[in-house]
Amino acid sequence: MSELITLKDKQFKPYILEIEILDAVKKMADVINFELKNDLPLFLVVLNGAFMFAADLLRSITIPCEVSFIKVASYDGVGSTGTVDELIGLNENIKGRTVVLVEDIVDTGLTINRISDILYFKEVKQVKVATALLKPDAYKKELKIDYVAHKIKNEFVVGYGLDYLGLGRNLKEIYILA
Ligand code: IMP
Repeated sequence: MSELITLKDKQFKPYILEIEILDAVKKMADVINFELKNDLPLFLVVLNGAFMFAADLLRSITIPCEVSFIKVASYDGVGSTGTVDELIGLNENIKGRTVVLVEDIVDTGLTINRISDILYFKEVKQVKVATALLKPDAYKKELKIDYVAHKIKNEFVVGYGLDYLGLGRNLKEIYILA
């Protein structure tokens, strides 16, 4: 594995090896294959960050399923402090479905909670959350994070889909601020 890398003004050091990521993702897929085998789940991949995790996870999903991709748009300025989030790309009729949200990282949990609320408003049967990374010390919400590949400390990471100022998404390992 390579040593220190520089992205713009910051240096990052190796944190989670590719093999450790892939092992954990495979184990997650095995659990999902077992738990959701009768649900015909719809995997909703949250772009941009989850693209690499989603590709690895879904390669190991062997049960019947559908896959689609969404983006979250945030609009500031509704009232003085409010934010309205909209899901872009959600074209399926999801009423009554089991939806697995595929995320790169759950930090405070704000993003995943907003998306989950919107999906329940559209009358899904259940939302499951699958994330490559979770920062338990930052997570502040009630929503259960069902499937987690790696729990990490509350620091900034890049790679495996995650970026710093647009850079680093293509790295196959996860790096942490040096
Ligand atoms: P949350 O809404 O606070 O859970 O944050 C989720 C989003 O913030 C993720 O989908 C990422 O885009 C971004 N994010 C949070 N932590 C990191 C990090 O350590 N590195 C890169 N992006 C992060």
